[in-house]
Amino acid sequence: MLAIIGGTGLNQLNGITELEILKPQTKLGPPSGPIYKGIYNGQEICFLARHGAPHHIPPHLINYRANILALDELGVTKIIAVNAVGGISDHLGPANLAIPDQIIDYTIARDNTYFDGIFQPLDHIDFTFPYDETLRCALLSASRRIGLDIMDGGTYAATQGPRLESAAEVERIRRDGGSMIGMTGMPEAALARELGLSYCCIALSVNWAAGVKGCSEISMQDIRKALELGMQQVLRLIEAYLQTQKNI
Ligand code: HPA
Repeated sequence: MLAIIGGTGLNQLNGITELEILKPQTKLGPPSGPIYKGIYNGQEICFLARHGAPHHIPPHLINYRANILALDELGVTKIIAVNAVGGISDHLGPANLAIPDQIIDYTIARDNTYFDGIFQPLDHIDFTFPYDETLRCALLSASRRIGLDIMDGGTYAATQGPRLESAAEVERIRRDGGSMIGMTGMPEAALARELGLSYCCIALSVNWAAGVKGCSEISMQDIRKALELGMQQVLRLIEAYLQTQKNI
């Protein structure tokens, strides 16, 4: 079963039928909120709002371990994560989408593993290619089918937040190879890999990252506008992806 994890701007998924609202507990605490299970575009899915609904949990306080564990325990095998980002790459102006293929993790002090010697014995996962390539390619081919121009690949730089970055921090991330910056991509991707779940990300640019296009400050009003516009494209893409899965 597929799960969609909604980020900022996607706190609920309208149009789920045969809806069950689940409130699972895990050994690592409760997930961010209820998990909505049902049929969406002909497929059985689960939906979880990463920040809770209404949006209230800041990126560094999300219980990522409980979220992924709860989905795993419900029988989820694939996750499409939706993440708002600031764009660094020229292709990632506000309201544009990317399916990243790499990650750099700048977050600190988050519970970022199941293999901590307490929940599970120490182990080390391979993370050379952090996102599931099959899922990434399926999303890219769905985007081509509906004529949606999105960026194939790019490096997702995960920062601690909740503040946005300074221009100098963004410049350093750009030199490191970052194409986009978000606050919630890690440890989520690594935890999914630790549990053996296929995971990929739809990144929606809601602003140019600080200092990327000159000196102006980032306005929350502009972010809200880009979120609204871009999220419609995200939903079109997910719908198109689910339609292709029907025919497999
Ligand atoms: N930086 C980090 N996270 C973000 C940004 C940003 O500019 N925009 C949306 N999420």
